[in-house]
Amino acid sequence: MRIVLGVGGGIAAYKVASLLRLFTEAGHKVTVIPTEAATRFVGVATWEALSGNPVSNSVFDDVEKVNHVRLGHEADLIVVAPATADLLAKAATGQAGDLLTNTLLMAHGPVLFAPAMHTEMWQHAATQANVETLRSRGVTVLEPASGRLTGSDSGPGRLPEPEAIFAAAMALAESAVGATASPAAEKPLAGRIVTISAGGTREALDPVRFLGNRSSGKQGAALAAAALAAGATVRFLAAHMDVEAPAGVELVRVESALELREAALKAAVDSDVVIMAAAVADFRPAEFSDTKIKKVDGEDAPVVRLIRNPDILHELVERRNAEGGQQLIVGFAAETGDAQGDVLEHATAKLKRKGCDLLVVNQVGIGRVFGQDENSVVILSGHGAEPQSAAGSKSDVAAAVVDRVGAELARVFPAL
Ligand code: CTP
Repeated sequence: MRIVLGVGGGIAAYKVASLLRLFTEAGHKVTVIPTEAATRFVGVATWEALSGNPVSNSVFDDVEKVNHVRLGHEADLIVVAPATADLLAKAATGQAGDLLTNTLLMAHGPVLFAPAMHTEMWQHAATQANVETLRSRGVTVLEPASGRLTGSDSGPGRLPEPEAIFAAAMALAESAVGATASPAAEKPLAGRIVTISAGGTREALDPVRFLGNRSSGKQGAALAAAALAAGATVRFLAAHMDVEAPAGVELVRVESALELREAALKAAVDSDVVIMAAAVADFRPAEFSDTKIKKVDGEDAPVVRLIRNPDILHELVERRNAEGGQQLIVGFAAETGDAQGDVLEHATAKLKRKGCDLLVVNQVGIGRVFGQDENSVVILSGHGAEPQSAAGSKSDVAAAVVDRVGAELARVFPAL
């Protein structure tokens, strides 16, 4: 594969030497295009020696080869790391002041940005708007990792590890090939947008306390990885999680059920599939105290009054039905049997109540399912198909759910 590796002017440029190594050792031909600023961190000689190819950042070198057009045109994949705030802004606004930005405008294959910058720069509305613009054009922008930054501070803004960027780049290139080569067989969700919610919501009582739940987000993360592997573009709505979101998703972080509702309704608008794997709190405290609730000697302990949260899954189904949209909606149900019925009876009633197309059901209890690596589920269909069981690691279960989503999508919406 021909890869263009764009390097931005950030301190993380030194880590990209390892990424380049991973590409060349995997047999890919890499042309490195550092920006002017990048060469202040790592010199041209390093990039030439490691890639085995000449390196330039000027549109006026080797003009007869028309590099500013040819490189982007011929590349099977373009990876930009570290993608600085400046490079994201230039790419989002279509600037073409140097060889790298020209190449990005000429891209014919998939493009992946791995951002790295200071947390405030990453979270700045301007940068976030640029990221959103790029993503809306089909560019993959990874989430930066969290951790120690250049100075003594820490937060989101670190370049993801070279191995993670490499894996995301390979998955992206594969899904691009899959989309043109064998969409139906190996990549059942190629070209599909899949929104997945995961983790447990937290409902704030005061600035330091919340009501939460035991969801680890492992099953949701495994689903996202399986959907990426199936060729989908994945919008990942992450409530509180004990594990990282897989590289390559479009990540939206949320805290409460209300925030998740807003994110889900927005992400679902043009999604082909919505999978609600998040453990959403059914109730939230009726009052939020702006200041920490204090214990006062001689007074009774406070009473927390709860109010209902909206049912996001139900709302998504209602909106889809009202608009007549062709969208497959998948719910998850954590059930325990009781005097009123067994797990499957409760789940069948829930499937009807929620009106979704598939319901993935598991039986819960303390220490069972939540936080564990193994899972066992039954997938119920709202369209009359037989219940299907799946068991094994959460990745095995995720692969089974994603397979079923692909099959159900083809069955329920054959025109899609
Ligand atoms: N869900 C949702 N919004 C809520 C509660 C749940 O979208 N406010 C979604 C979950 O993401 C999951 C499904 O609904 O996909 C089932 O959640 P569960 O908590 O099992 O169902 P409930 O409707 O809360 O039913 P009950 O508590 O009565 O068992």
